[in-house]
Amino acid sequence: MSLQNDLLIRTARGEEVQRPPVWLMRQAGRILPQYRAIRARLSGFKELVSTPSLAAEVTIQPVDELDVDAAIIFSDILVIPEAMGLDYELIEKVGPRFPETIRSAAQVEELIEGNDAAERLTYVYDAVRLTKKELAGRVPLIGFSGAPWTLLCYMVEGGGSKTFSKAKRFLYQEPVLAHQLLEKITTSVIAYLKLKIQAGVDIVQIFDSWAGVLTPVQYQTFALPYIRRICEEVQSVPKIVFAKGAWHALEEFADVPCDVVGLDWTHDPTEARERVGPDKVLQGNLDPCQLYANVEDIERAVQEMLTSFAGRHIANLGHGVYPDTPLEGVKAFVRTVKEMELIL
Ligand code: CP3
Repeated sequence: MSLQNDLLIRTARGEEVQRPPVWLMRQAGRILPQYRAIRARLSGFKELVSTPSLAAEVTIQPVDELDVDAAIIFSDILVIPEAMGLDYELIEKVGPRFPETIRSAAQVEELIEGNDAAERLTYVYDAVRLTKKELAGRVPLIGFSGAPWTLLCYMVEGGGSKTFSKAKRFLYQEPVLAHQLLEKITTSVIAYLKLKIQAGVDIVQIFDSWAGVLTPVQYQTFALPYIRRICEEVQSVPKIVFAKGAWHALEEFADVPCDVVGLDWTHDPTEARERVGPDKVLQGNLDPCQLYANVEDIERAVQEMLTSFAGRHIANLGHGVYPDTPLEGVKAFVRTVKEMELIL
């Protein structure tokens, strides 16, 4: 089915458009009362993720409520470690936890990978197909995956962390094993994204949420080559790479075969454009905390951001929207972008 609003896809492909498209990372979730209502009557987050009709419903909620230019399939990056054989649980107010973490070569050896892992995630592809049907072409559907390094972080650390020092220790003490693990994650991510595309997603984003804990050299060694492989092998839809905190790697991203480079809020848009060069579209990068401000201040900040990017830009935040963000602020963000006709 053809898209009625294909602004995101045309922008990602580098076409000239009247205004930047707008969506928010983590737009499907606790900022919406409709989401909290569904979540409250379920046993937990995993029930929501693994029930296609519910996942489709919460995917579409932000399109209805916020009027964004894209939907992002409701799921989590942690389904890949799970499909590889490492179960996770999501503990209320704490976050994800993996009862078993990767410590040894024998464990890495045992992990399921590639198509064998990706094929286990039938509920994700069912959710994609159902969402596409229910969206009926209103807006594009974004598919996503964690980047190999960020997924390794959870598989080795066992949960969230300020420093990810256990995951980093693994790189220093077991570099060969780390590469073997990254390799297996990479084949799984490639197969997964291909199956999501087959099921109907129109564009994909790779989240490297913990890029910023690595040194520049570690990022070149343990993260970038795997992202490059994914981008080389996943074709047919545009690709967005968002590596939070990898400010040092902007020049390298210019050379990765992706269409869009996501920026966190620490980047100055003009400087980022100079460093990435003219070929990539940029996405971002309003500080998520800006949405706690009053509506006039938000409007001004969004206008300034759009002016600094000056086109070839997808409006978004510099990271996922925080769950306690007032809906008023989120709506002001979206509205201000949509009101801006870009002077090219
Ligand atoms: O963007 C969207 O609206 C789609 C849904 C989505 C979720 N997780 C749903 C979710 C996406 C794209 C993700 C990606 C994700 N998951 C990332 C990368 C993006 C980023 O923020 O850096 C990461 C690091 C995770 C891992 C994860 N999942 C954490 C750390 C947590 C707990 C913290 C939190 O936000 O509550 C989750 C759980 C999770 N994933 C929730 C949602 C809506 C909260 C579950 C709930 O209580 O309802």
